[in-house]
Amino acid sequence: MDTQETSQAQIQTEYIKACKLLLEQQAKRQGRQLTYHISTFGCQMNFKDSEKLAGILEQMGYVETDTEDADLVLLNTCTVRENANQKVYGHLGMLKSYKKRNPDMLVALCGCMMQEPSVVTYLSEHYRFIDLIFGTHNIYKLAQLLYTRLESGSPVVDLWEDAKEIVEDLPSVRKYSFKSGVNIMFGCNNFCSYCIVPYVRGRERSREPEDIIREIEQMVSEGVVEVMLLGQNVNSYGKTLSQPISFAELLRRVERIEGLKRIRFMTSHPKDLSDELIAVMRDSKKICRHLHLPVQSGSTRLLERMNRRYTKDSYLQLVEKLRREIPDLSLTTDIIVGFPGETEADFEDTIDVVRRAGYDSAYTFLYSKRTGTPAASMEDQVPESVAKERFQRLLKVVAEVSASRTERLVGEVAEVLVEGRSDQDAAMLTGRLSNNLLVHFPESEDLIGRFCNVRLDEAKGFYYLGTRMTK
Ligand code: SAH
Ligand code: SF4
Ligand code: F3S
Repeated sequence: MDTQETSQAQIQTEYIKACKLLLEQQAKRQGRQLTYHISTFGCQMNFKDSEKLAGILEQMGYVETDTEDADLVLLNTCTVRENANQKVYGHLGMLKSYKKRNPDMLVALCGCMMQEPSVVTYLSEHYRFIDLIFGTHNIYKLAQLLYTRLESGSPVVDLWEDAKEIVEDLPSVRKYSFKSGVNIMFGCNNFCSYCIVPYVRGRERSREPEDIIREIEQMVSEGVVEVMLLGQNVNSYGKTLSQPISFAELLRRVERIEGLKRIRFMTSHPKDLSDELIAVMRDSKKICRHLHLPVQSGSTRLLERMNRRYTKDSYLQLVEKLRREIPDLSLTTDIIVGFPGETEADFEDTIDVVRRAGYDSAYTFLYSKRTGTPAASMEDQVPESVAKERFQRLLKVVAEVSASRTERLVGEVAEVLVEGRSDQDAAMLTGRLSNNLLVHFPESEDLIGRFCNVRLDEAKGFYYLGTRMTK
């Protein structure tokens, strides 16, 4: 760790203490503990940021509550598709009415949407009750920003175009005691032509392997058994470090951490998936049998316009290699329908890839125009009705393919990590298989956070119903 990092963490610790003192006075006036709520709109990386922000707030003395009717509400936004943005405006309407009843309430916005200057201008003009706006590069400064807001009494807006440094050793909370996400890199350099992420998350930066290992070791000592290594393109991890290291090598080092049982990672870009990585996955005892390998489209012509840098054939060859080397691998993907210029023939290529790759599941998205990206100014935008009709057809094929995949394991006994009560039926627990599929089975709560063997009795599309085997 270099001294600059040490001092930044120390500075923030001082601000946390300063906020704590101010907030204690407020709590005394109100005669109760102050509450906070964070709503997260984005991906796993946003979720991880929310855990860090929660860690800072809890050290200041705030306690979590499950409603937005709280003393401090933080909306951690996403802007990858237009509907993610729209949701935020819906929440803001509600927050305004809460704040009328509780004038001391603080409303803060952060995350990817705040990295778009037009959004921030709009917010400052139309939502004057917002107390604090910051972006994706300065979340570690939450305490400092909040302190400025509390002392000055005026709104604070702090936005950076790109990241300055990676700050280590700040507090964080964990939603689950037994599993956790771990950032290994930030940002993205790929500039897929439809995607806003490189603009709002900045250039690719990898954390030092030592910092990653140290963080995971600490988590394991606190009871974590499963980690998810996070990055927009994990396969290019380590390339920009002063002592470059490959993602495969990082995985080897993480594998050696004693007490850690399962390793997951996302997301993998097909163009950077190396043979070395496939070999490490194949030979590993801890890396889960699941790979999320976004294809986006099955049409070579569209892939080129998307700037994905692989073709339909090279993608299918990669899938074939993976299936050969790791036969029990479960494969999932992301697909965009209605990208500018998509013809019926392009769409059929996508359907063809879905069938041939045999995905266990696929996240499907209607193309959403993001201002500032190259695709937004492409001329031949696909009419919404056409895109929607294709989207429905794609959903059917995905459901069919994934049902036949899940069917194959019925009757087998699999080891699962029990994650909690089932969302659908409170009498059931939910466990996650190594291949990322879920199984619901009747058992008591004390198994949560532990591994057990479950027989997969019935496939229900994307999940199973099962029975715990005690032998
Ligand atoms: N870094 C990851 C993806 C991050 S965004 C990767 O490259 O795989 C998650 C998914 O959102 C993408 O895989 C893509 O399918 C989808 N997506 C991104 N931009 C989009 C847009 N403008 N319209 C629709 N879907 C989009
Ligand atoms: Fe977006 Fe492409 Fe980067 Fe993924 S790899 S975040 S889709 S630009
Ligand atoms: Fe959304 Fe930002 Fe993630 S735009 S998908 S929250 S990186």
